[in-house]
Amino acid sequence: MGRVFGYHTGMKIRDEYRAKHPKSAALWERARAVIPGGITHDIRHLTPFPVDYWMGHGALFLGHCHPAVVRAVQEQMARSTHPGACHELEVRWAELVNRLVPCAELVRFTMSGTEATHLAMRIARAYTGRSRIVKLAGHFHGWHDGAVAAVNPPYEVPMSAGVPGATRSLSSAATSPRSSSSPRAARPVRRRPSRVTSRSSGR
Ligand SMILES: Cc1ncc(COP(=O)(O)O)c(C=O)c1O
Repeated sequence: MGRVFGYHTGMKIRDEYRAKHPKSAALWERARAVIPGGITHDIRHLTPFPVDYWMGHGALFLGHCHPAVVRAVQEQMARSTHPGACHELEVRWAELVNRLVPCAELVRFTMSGTEATHLAMRIARAYTGRSRIVKLAGHFHGWHDGAVAAVNPPYEVPMSAGVPGATRSLSSAATSPRSSSSPRAARPVRRRPSRVTSRSSGR
């Protein structure tokens, strides 16, 4: 025992990480000079710097650059690069999703999860006529204004500045001992009994 990721050499784990990824460390320095925070997405805040072991956040279950996927993308690129209106493939894709997830009934495609949760909140508000959203503390659901509450402890501090208090007050955070699936919630989270916190009495 005692041989956990270089600790046997007396090397600090961060030093070993840097030593193993010198190109990523150099790229990180360049990135910080031209990209806010050196990252192009909020959940890429990794210490001491990001290295991509995420396989497309789980989407790439065939791995990077699977030949069948590369071939299909190349074939499609030769047909159309950016259709501005509707096209056959989106219908076929929606039919496929509907077949795989029949309870989805109708499919709306979005470009990101942020867009999807933003849209989901709008639909929920339109349907219920209510404004208040309850989210799970310790979970990341996109970077839009409606989802900045209670992502990381301390949950009273929003994930980002720049969101008006009136908007933030429309989110309530529910905490649960089991709510820790977000990558950013991988840090130690104080365990508390389930409860709901809210910052205003508005609907
Ligand atoms: C549960 C959940 N919701 C929403 C999002 C936001 O998705 P995107 O990063 O595509 O904006 C993420 C991203 O990690 C997520 O894990």
